[in-house]
Amino acid sequence: MFYRVLLNLKKMKKIVILILVFTSINTFSQKFEGLAETPPLGWNSWNTFATDINEQLVKDIADKFVELGLKEAGYEYIVLDDGWMAKERDTHGNLIADPIKFPSGMKALADYIHSKGLKFGLYNCAGSKTCAGYPGSRGFEYQDARSYASWDVDYLKYDWCNTDKLNAEGAYITMRDALKAAGRPVVFSICEWGDNEPWKWAKDVGHAWRVTGDIINCWDCEVGHGSWSSWGVWKIINMRKDIRKVAGPGHWNDFDMMEVGNGMADAEDRTHFAMWTMLTSPLIMGNDLRVASKETIKTLANKEVIAVNQDKLGIQGFRFSNEGDFEIWIKPLENDAWAITFVNMSDKPLSLNFDWEKHDIGDDVNGKRMEAKQQKFKIRDLFNHKNLGDTSKNLMAEIQSHDVLMVKLEKK
Ligand code: GLA
Repeated sequence: MFYRVLLNLKKMKKIVILILVFTSINTFSQKFEGLAETPPLGWNSWNTFATDINEQLVKDIADKFVELGLKEAGYEYIVLDDGWMAKERDTHGNLIADPIKFPSGMKALADYIHSKGLKFGLYNCAGSKTCAGYPGSRGFEYQDARSYASWDVDYLKYDWCNTDKLNAEGAYITMRDALKAAGRPVVFSICEWGDNEPWKWAKDVGHAWRVTGDIINCWDCEVGHGSWSSWGVWKIINMRKDIRKVAGPGHWNDFDMMEVGNGMADAEDRTHFAMWTMLTSPLIMGNDLRVASKETIKTLANKEVIAVNQDKLGIQGFRFSNEGDFEIWIKPLENDAWAITFVNMSDKPLSLNFDWEKHDIGDDVNGKRMEAKQQKFKIRDLFNHKNLGDTSKNLMAEIQSHDVLMVKLEKK
């Protein structure tokens, strides 16, 4: 009897140890699940302000989220990019906010942003220094994650400068685990420019990963900076053709922060926005919301277009065809609906005449077909907020140079 009890106790001990090991693996080595189930929507300081950021600016941006209807349209995260911290850590190795730019510190700023019903994000880097030369997280990952948690940070963009021979997957896993151990749920946004093909390994590491080098505010240019280049909107779109399969709820291909409102023509901004939406990219605004034009806000706050990006299926769209100077992009949506985007790539206005019956619209990767011959769909113009009849007739439209016709098709 005594031996049986002892044996049972031994068994129990084993089970308890197994349970402990299992829970600790679960607690410490997975990303936070249930975040970014649809692509994150927000604003980031870098495209317009680089390191020239400060407390008042960020508060003003938070106010503008509310005032301009951007919060209501779904934008949530306000992310400070490079340059928010002091040039040196404190004597205990802690990161500190730049005391001139952010005299009230990061917790106070997070509180302000949270008081508006918004979320707060910060930037750092896997290397010894950030790209702009501020202290990086290498060797300080757990300590930095604890600082972010103590400031109530909700989102971390994590860059890849000054990483020497670091292994990318390993470095991002270390930061993921550090965030998990700190305990506050954080959207983890991987920014290593696609150099190490994160779409192959980052699904369980981060919630989104950049797929290219930095964007710049032009339609299709490349701007060289010696060892690296910045890329226009269409250069970025065309750079990554075969990775749509890997995007989905909680893990997105990130085509970079948007340049809408940063100097391209309004038509080009509409196309840029439509394309980021079709590609299920995070929609992170990169313009100065304090001086944004009405047209820019009309584009950015377009709920019908945003709904395509936020569709619950989370299927990344794809190029269906190039017909003459039109690019046609397609994205399957919930309830057997489709988003279709026609882009006029030429430098003059063009007439579209699209015969639904002549096109076999479908998505082989996801086993979906539109079957326009058997089934009629009603057509909604998402930028002009108009119904355009149904697929029993050809779709006719005049589309201006570099502009877009974006429609949603729903079964009648
Ligand atoms: C890299 C990133 C950019 C930005 C800068 C900051 O270039 O790709 O998005 O964060 O660093 O220095």
